[in-house]
Amino acid sequence: MTADRRRFLQTAAVAGVASFAGLRPLLAADAEIEVDPSAPGPRISPHIYGHFIEHLGGVIYDGIWVGRDSKIPNVGGLRQHFVDDLKRIGAPNLRWPGGCFADGYHWRDGIGTPARRPRTYNYWEHRMPPGRHATESNAFGIHEFMSLCRLVGAEPYLAANVGSGGPQEFHDWVSYCNAPPGTLSLADERAANGDKEPFNVKYWGVGNESWGCGGNMTGGEYATEYRKYISQVPTYVRPFFVATGPRGHSADGDVGWTEGFFAGLQNVRGLGVRVDGFALHYYTDFRQTAEDGARFDEKGWYAVLHKGIRIEKIIDDHWAIMARYDPEHHTRFVIDEWGNWYRGGTELGPDYILSQTITLRDALHAAMTFDIFNRHADKIEMANVAQTINCLHSLFAATGDRYTRTPAYYTFEMYRPHMGARLVPARIRFPEMTVPLLEGSARLPGLSGSASVRERVLTITVTNPSLQDGVVTRIRLSGGALLREARATVLTHPDMHATNTFEKPNEVALAALATQVSGDTATVTIPKQSVVAVSLQIA
Ligand code: AHR
Repeated sequence: MTADRRRFLQTAAVAGVASFAGLRPLLAADAEIEVDPSAPGPRISPHIYGHFIEHLGGVIYDGIWVGRDSKIPNVGGLRQHFVDDLKRIGAPNLRWPGGCFADGYHWRDGIGTPARRPRTYNYWEHRMPPGRHATESNAFGIHEFMSLCRLVGAEPYLAANVGSGGPQEFHDWVSYCNAPPGTLSLADERAANGDKEPFNVKYWGVGNESWGCGGNMTGGEYATEYRKYISQVPTYVRPFFVATGPRGHSADGDVGWTEGFFAGLQNVRGLGVRVDGFALHYYTDFRQTAEDGARFDEKGWYAVLHKGIRIEKIIDDHWAIMARYDPEHHTRFVIDEWGNWYRGGTELGPDYILSQTITLRDALHAAMTFDIFNRHADKIEMANVAQTINCLHSLFAATGDRYTRTPAYYTFEMYRPHMGARLVPARIRFPEMTVPLLEGSARLPGLSGSASVRERVLTITVTNPSLQDGVVTRIRLSGGALLREARATVLTHPDMHATNTFEKPNEVALAALATQVSGDTATVTIPKQSVVAVSLQIA
């Protein structure tokens, strides 16, 4: 072992993680990250680390809902491992029931005695092989969803049906969820179905993708619908209304939607129309390419990371449009669908549509995305990964009694300390790289990251996307503060394709990484193809 290696791979004492010792970082170049804990910025909304679950393929049925009589360990029909892991990462919210499914969903179908609930059409049915999960059984409805939220400690975020429902159906759902006991017949009905106390749902999505499966509207048409939905809504809890936002992964970023929607709201004379959240969707969309989740080369690795970080420009572009209509920015982003979307080919099975293999590449993509979200904490109220289990950018895969965390799960675990902490300016001094893409080449930050502070603890997360070189990185505090202690965790693997399978569920997992502290500086070597989280105790 070289002196350098001894110096930098000294195992740090990090509880609950394995020691990172098997990988050899190439020490190519030095980087410096300057952080200023004396100038904390906005609070990072914990809801940025949120979730999305839809009645689609194996997400709800099998993934989450195994049924009360199942032999699979469960709590009231909910998969026990899933509940435990969401608790472990402090899942702040769950968005449900869709997705495209939401605009065909009638909430009344999912209440009452399960055996008597109707079997109904599911938007995704045409994509499913006949049989399992195709027809909607409605076994999982609002009471089962709320039970999941309570067990996890997550806030519910409901997507209302604008595409095929109506304002009255929406208002009744709000009343059913939130009216105090004994006040309305709908509150009595809720009590008769097992929940006397109101659910107190605050987050309400007014439709989903209303430019597509949610109604094929223009931004202006949707503005008219939106006004109808919110003007008579019962307000037992002050609602946080989320309007459908743009299809951010369109070639032009779909700026026309945002213009059309906000311009459409201007036609209301004298009445303020409240828009609390604006639901930007951004998929790192490779559906039209040969790229799949499992098999890729160096070009595919970089292409996905490069396209992923385009979300920062999309956030900036739409924020600038919103500023013209709402200069004080009452409306913030709810990025309620984000993640990688490859062409098919790596599904868990034919009826697990939209599931795909999740590798180390997806874990790095999630890290770079979260660092962008953190850096835009002033603009973002919430974000929801699409989707939490058995789907696109999932944290978990489960079929029957088989279950595993994917590499992306660990990104959520590493980033947990950022939730609710205050953003801290971090200046990374390290050159960009030129990387090959599927076609041509592009520039990519050599290191990217974000920093936050809570009490006297600084958290710095950094991604090194390079497939070649590790980077010796000095993290220096400006403003005269000194460091008492540093701990670091790393997520990496020698193979860029590494994934966790039911047979080898721990192939990709967290490990401790050595750090050295001296005065105002901590030094850590960030291995190639890795995410590192450093926790610094300020003296
Ligand atoms: O996450 C899968 C689908 O992607 C959602 O149902 C829809 O909203 C989006 O197009």
